[in-house]
Amino acid sequence: MGFISDALGRMKPSATIALTQMARERKAAGKDVISLALGEPDFNTPDHIKEAAIAAINRNDTRYPPVAGIVPLREAIARKFKRENNLDYKPAQTIVGTGGKHILYNAFLSTLNPGDEVVVIAPFWVSYPEMAMVCGGTPVIVEAHEKDNFKLKPEALERAITPKTKWVLLNSPSNPTGAAYSRAEMKALTDVLLRHPHVWLMTDDIYEHLVYGDYKFVTPVEVEPSLYDRTLTVNGVSKAYAMTGWRIGYAAGPEKLIKAMDSAMSQQTSGACTIAQWAATAALDGPQDHLPVFRATFEERRNLVVSMLNQATGLKCATPEGAFYVYPSMSALIGKTAPSGKKIETDEDFVLELLNAEDVAGVHGSAFGVGPAMRVSYATSTELLQEACERIQRFCNSLK
Ligand SMILES: Cc1ncc(COP(=O)(O)O)c(C=O)c1O
Repeated sequence: MGFISDALGRMKPSATIALTQMARERKAAGKDVISLALGEPDFNTPDHIKEAAIAAINRNDTRYPPVAGIVPLREAIARKFKRENNLDYKPAQTIVGTGGKHILYNAFLSTLNPGDEVVVIAPFWVSYPEMAMVCGGTPVIVEAHEKDNFKLKPEALERAITPKTKWVLLNSPSNPTGAAYSRAEMKALTDVLLRHPHVWLMTDDIYEHLVYGDYKFVTPVEVEPSLYDRTLTVNGVSKAYAMTGWRIGYAAGPEKLIKAMDSAMSQQTSGACTIAQWAATAALDGPQDHLPVFRATFEERRNLVVSMLNQATGLKCATPEGAFYVYPSMSALIGKTAPSGKKIETDEDFVLELLNAEDVAGVHGSAFGVGPAMRVSYATSTELLQEACERIQRFCNSLK
């Protein structure tokens, strides 16, 4: 009998974290590494948010929180959904967790029974299928194709749904492709869900505020209010407020689901860090004027990276609407030989050889369910991005 549980034994370690770790080790060994592997804004948390946390500490607001979240934060979350998404939720329909990841995990833990299927759209965030599986569910992967800008066609969603489907998971803007659904595209997907009343929708809106050009963010229940009673809308402060280390995520949905997640959390974390919750309250209720600055900076970087990657021999890179990732494909490079003599047979070979030859870390597309491709995070300085893209161009040119 093995010591590690079967469920955990089946879980794949995160490829993004593995690549980031390899980049860190090379850096520690003195190499000039540029990592485009991890998804975290390089901005600082805005000052008024930090001050709210310091004030909480100074007034000794440092005890256990109510499990589902402090009342002011749950009220701020309800206000946020009304103000930004035109969704009506009572604070009792909201829940706070230790990051969006914890919220998603908890939603699965609270609802999945063996055999329940979770429809996950590929390319997917690496954690979705693993979380569903560890909680006893069966991930059903459905591919969104490059020719459709990595957005799922409604016919494909229709085909993926079975009587066993419990959840459909949407993530727009997407990690890893940056693709985001327009109102019409979202409506086409929600129309499919209307035909399957047994299916619940989990929507991960964590990149809501990082959208560019003319694109306008939409969340499914705003587009199709009749899905309100079977949708969990998940969000968090990590990306929009540069608060990845504070670990606060949140969600809103039907009270029976929120209560189940509250009960699960009461036996897990006993609630998210009180101090970080005060910071998140200030984030949601406070000034939002850092957002246009974040957006303008990311948009400029996106444009630079897309243009430079399209100039690299053999890479093809679409211009996505949001998040801070691009997802160039590389079919033309498979079968070529790297300067080290290694044949590039997969996109994983490509990212490993790129790291060896040019000290640039990206993450192979096959880790996100669709390859050959590479996820490039542009949440790093413009100077470093320029240098990294020049190295990628040089590497692609060196393949024979
Ligand atoms: C698509 C997506 N959802 C959720 C998260 C979770 O973020 P956090 O746990 O920091 O709120 C991430 C983080 O990378 C993400 O990319």
